[in-house]
Amino acid sequence: MTEFLYLDEESMIKAGALDSNRCVEVMDEMFGLLGQGDYIMGGPNLNEHGIKVYFPENPKFEGMPKAGPDRRFMAMVGYLGGRFRTAGEKWYGSNIINPSRGLPRSILMVMLNNPDTCEPFALCSGNVVSAVRTGSIPGVGVKYLARKDASVIGLIGAGPIQKACLQGMMATAKNAKEIRIFDIKKETAEKYGEWAAEEFGLKYTVCDTMEDAISTADIISSATSRLRPVMIEDAWLKPGSLIIFTGSGRIAESYYETATTFFDNPLMHKAYMDDARRADVPIEVSYAGMMGGGIYKLIDEGKLPPVEEIPSLGSCACGAIPGRKSDDERICLMTGGMITEDIAWTYECYQRAVEMGLGQKLKIWDTPHWT
Ligand SMILES: NC(=O)c1ccc[n+]([C@@H]2O[C@H](COP(=O)([O-])OP(=O)(O)OC[C@H]3O[C@@H](n4cnc5c(N)ncnc54)[C@H](O)[C@@H]3O)[C@@H](O)[C@H]2O)c1
Repeated sequence: MTEFLYLDEESMIKAGALDSNRCVEVMDEMFGLLGQGDYIMGGPNLNEHGIKVYFPENPKFEGMPKAGPDRRFMAMVGYLGGRFRTAGEKWYGSNIINPSRGLPRSILMVMLNNPDTCEPFALCSGNVVSAVRTGSIPGVGVKYLARKDASVIGLIGAGPIQKACLQGMMATAKNAKEIRIFDIKKETAEKYGEWAAEEFGLKYTVCDTMEDAISTADIISSATSRLRPVMIEDAWLKPGSLIIFTGSGRIAESYYETATTFFDNPLMHKAYMDDARRADVPIEVSYAGMMGGGIYKLIDEGKLPPVEEIPSLGSCACGAIPGRKSDDERICLMTGGMITEDIAWTYECYQRAVEMGLGQKLKIWDTPHWT
C-alpha cells in the first residue's frame, strides 16, 4: 500500500510550524548543507528557483488569467540531503487582490517524497511553513552578518511576510529593542507596531518616510509587494548596517562600491541571470522584474564580482568563510527563497505531526493498477 499524510494548516500549526526560533536553527542547518553542496534544485544548473507560469497581458480566452503585479503560479522542486534525505515540491499561486476576498495573497501546498521510491509521504498546507521559513532566513542573516550589538531594526513594508521576518530576526538579534516601520499604508504600519510591541515588547515608531525608518537602523528588512518600487539612497544606510531584501528593492549604485553583497545562493541568482539573457525582451526589462535585478546589472558591468564569487549564507553556515568582518562594514543580503527551505521546515513539522498523531492518512493504492 502507498499512502501519505495530509496535514491541513491547523495541524501544521499544532506541529510547530509557527516556531520561528526552531525554524531559524533548521534554516541554519539547511544552509550548512547548501554550503557543502548536499542538495539539488530544479533546472539544468541544479539551482533554479522554480518554474513560473506567466500570464499574458491580453488573454485571448475568457477566464484565462491576466498578467498583473505579483500574479503568478510557481512550481519549486528539489532535494535536500543530510538528515532530511527528502525530495519535494512547493506549488503556489499568487494574486494581489486575494486579500479583498478574505484569502491570503498566495496559497501554497508542499509535497514531500521519498527520493528512492518516489512515493509521496506528506502533502501539507504550505502557507504558514512558507512564511515562517521565509522570515527565518533574515534570522540566519542576522546571526552571521549583523553587528552583535544591533538594537534598532528598520522595516520597509509591514505585511505578513514582514511579521515572519521580525519573528526570525528576533531569534538572533539578541539586543534588539526598537523597530521603525515604513509602509505605504500607514494604518498597516500602525497595526504592525501594536503586534510587535505585544509579541516582543519592542518600542515602535511608525515613520512617514523610508529614510526616517532606516537611517538610524542597524538591521533593515525590506519585504514589500510590488505596489510601489523600493528605492534606497546610499546615504540612508549607516556604517555597520545590514540590509536584508526578502521582497524586491533597489539601492543606489554607489552603495555597492563600499558595501559587501551576500546572496542566499549565488547559483540560483546565476540561473535568474541566465534566464534574463534567454528571454525575448531586452535584459533591462527582465532585470526590472527581478528581485536582484539591480545587483545583476552591476555584476554584468563588472562593478561587482562574477555572480559565482558573491559570498553566500551557505558558505558562512558551513564555516568556509566568516560573515561580517568588521563593525563598520555595510552588508546587503539578497534572498530569493528556495525549495530546500520548504523541504527542511515542512519535514521538521511533518516529523512532529507524526509523533503527535496529527493529520489524515490518504491512500494512493493498495497495489498500483499498472506497474
Ligand atoms: N524571498 C522569499 O522567499 C519570499 C517568500 C515569500 C514572499 N516573498 C515576497 O515578500 C513580499 C511581501 O509579501 P507579503 O505576503 O507580506 O505581501 P503583502 O502584499 O501582504 O504586504 C506587503 C506590504 O508592503 C507594503 N508596500 C508595498 N510597497 C511598498 C513600498 N514601496 N514601501 C513600503 N511599503 C510597501 C504594502 O502596503 C503591504 O502592507 C512579496 O513581494 C513576496 O513576493 C519573498
